Amino acid sequence: MNKPKFYITTPIYYPSGNMHIGHTYTTVAADSMTRFKKMCGYDTYFLTGTDEHGQKIERKAEEAGVTPKQYVDKIVAETKELWKLMNIEYDDFIRTTDERHEKVVQKIFRKFYEQGDIYKSEYEGYYCTPCESFWTPTQLKEKDGVKICPDCGRPVELTKEESYFFRMSKYQDWLIDYIETHPDFIQPPSRANEMLNNFLRPGLQDLCVSRTSFKWGVPVDFDPKHVVYVWIDALSNYITALGYLSENDSLFQKYWPADVHLVGKEIVRFHTIYWPIMLHALGLPLPKQVFGHGWLLFGGDKMSKSKGNVEYPGPIVKRYGTDALRYYLMREMPFGSDGNYTNEAMLNRMNSDLCNDLGNLVSRTVAMIEKYFGGAVPEAGELRDEDRHIIDLFEALPGAVEKYMNELQFSLALSEIWKFVGELNRYIDITQPWVLGKSEEGLPRLKTVMYTLAEGVRAVAVHIYPVMPSTPERIYAQLGVTDESLKTWESVRKFGGLKPGTVVKKGEALFPRVDVQKELKAIFDEKEAAKPAPVAEQAKEAKAEAKADNGMVTVDEFFKTKLVAAKIVACEKVEGSDKLLKSTLDIGEDKPRTVLSGIAKWYSPEDMVGRTVILVKNLPPRKMKGIFSEGMLLCADDNNGNVKLLTVDGDIKPGSEVG
Ligand code: ME8
Ligand code: MG
Repeated sequence: MNKPKFYITTPIYYPSGNMHIGHTYTTVAADSMTRFKKMCGYDTYFLTGTDEHGQKIERKAEEAGVTPKQYVDKIVAETKELWKLMNIEYDDFIRTTDERHEKVVQKIFRKFYEQGDIYKSEYEGYYCTPCESFWTPTQLKEKDGVKICPDCGRPVELTKEESYFFRMSKYQDWLIDYIETHPDFIQPPSRANEMLNNFLRPGLQDLCVSRTSFKWGVPVDFDPKHVVYVWIDALSNYITALGYLSENDSLFQKYWPADVHLVGKEIVRFHTIYWPIMLHALGLPLPKQVFGHGWLLFGGDKMSKSKGNVEYPGPIVKRYGTDALRYYLMREMPFGSDGNYTNEAMLNRMNSDLCNDLGNLVSRTVAMIEKYFGGAVPEAGELRDEDRHIIDLFEALPGAVEKYMNELQFSLALSEIWKFVGELNRYIDITQPWVLGKSEEGLPRLKTVMYTLAEGVRAVAVHIYPVMPSTPERIYAQLGVTDESLKTWESVRKFGGLKPGTVVKKGEALFPRVDVQKELKAIFDEKEAAKPAPVAEQAKEAKAEAKADNGMVTVDEFFKTKLVAAKIVACEKVEGSDKLLKSTLDIGEDKPRTVLSGIAKWYSPEDMVGRTVILVKNLPPRKMKGIFSEGMLLCADDNNGNVKLLTVDGDIKPGSEVG
């Protein structure tokens, strides 16, 4: 029998730095979707990879003193390790430096040229190197008189060079019509309107598709001073990986068109305008859907390699396991919307959803079957309303989850599953097995309750598999489920698959409860100790940029400021000023320090003496009213007329470090 096919892709990521939680997000979504489709009987193909050419990587490699290929090889190896850690089961990993890709990109480029879609001209425009994007003057923003990239806010460079161009404008009307008549093509639908209104209806510019200003790219074979510029090279990966225009194109024949390209919303434009036009020009069908998901934010800003404000999955997975992170990523925000990523929220969810709701359900169920029935799942007897309620929910669950998964609404699918978990926990509270277990008369009822619970737990295990692929086996081990046919999607459509007599066995807690504050500190310390730095330069640059971009400082930067506890041993008004007080401070050194502070309005000299305050010790001395001030006392200011000195909570030796 022919299985229906399902081809899904992630973007191919730039290996300019290590992949972070943002890339993990898309890749986990694609993996979850693939596992789900597989369970539903599809013949799936899941492609991911890396987008390795371009000026930015060329520059990074140069800074690091290695060749571009050496530079990307290292990051690609680490990326593959990360995907293994995240339990990602892709079918293929395409690299744009693969020969199979480069050869076909050349063929595609030549074909476009020969059929008149590409022509040679001259390019002048503003280029953002970190984003690898050209911008027209109207798209640019300005900051302090400098033209900046509208995406990342960094300065752009004006460049002019001979280039090949793709006649995008020729296909504009066709594409508008296509998008209007295929409402599922761009998801969520708001992104379709954005494309139509912001880019297509105002008129498409022809796209610059080659470069002569750098070498790290696929050479244009009929004009080798040019390399193919980013989007033709990158987007083609979705078909070159399947063998398009190569000797063996059986995968292409089988899987193209893709069912869905998952992408972040910032590259929806390339996937729903340039890519469809390229495909149409090649005479190929379009992908059925491009889904532009939202961003994981970090402190309100897009988490981004080039900004350096990122979290990496490694330390989290090491401590709590892959499934906890996968669950959090897929559960926390609706696929399509932005949301803040914080380790704190992740740990809170782990405690509530995974430890409390799921973990307790499994452990209570197994423990009670052991306690009351010697570990053998009993047979259910007569059903009451509360049992039928659970059975109804059980049998409605696969349909509800399927619906949401097919819409890529992972968070809603999980929320349905957790509603069922909640109902099972409530069922325990209502039926009170511990009361039933006290008397002979309670026994028949207890059997029905325990069977219903055990079967319910099995259904939960089956349903969570796509997002949490390793947890079900841990549940099956406790439930005593070994029969593979009881782990399938089909097996949970009807209540009653679990065989009475199945022997359960209590195991360790699925997800241990954690002390959130303690864990946050531990994660932080670990991260500091193991700063990922494929290239030292990268870390340095990221730090500097983090500061410039979003007001963040790294811990290292913060601790450049030397703060110490200082005891005020003397204090007086400064002559000729009604604001300044001059304090003499003991900071545990031979020589006391003199510091001027503008706080005479709030403190009298008598108030000051004897207090232990916080001194910023390593500021350059500053002269005021003829006196050198050697540092600064920290105060809190509510900008509403109130100022308070920061003091130390109790006795401490002058000179003690603060931090
Ligand atoms: O754009 N939140 O590569 P890239 C959510 N090579 N998703 C995020 C994210 C975040 N903070 N950060 C990254 C490129 N992503 C091109 C793509 S495709 C033919 C070429 C994910 O390394 C998200 O999927 O900048 C986003 O679109 C992608 O990584 C960008 O990765
Ligand atoms: Mg990007």
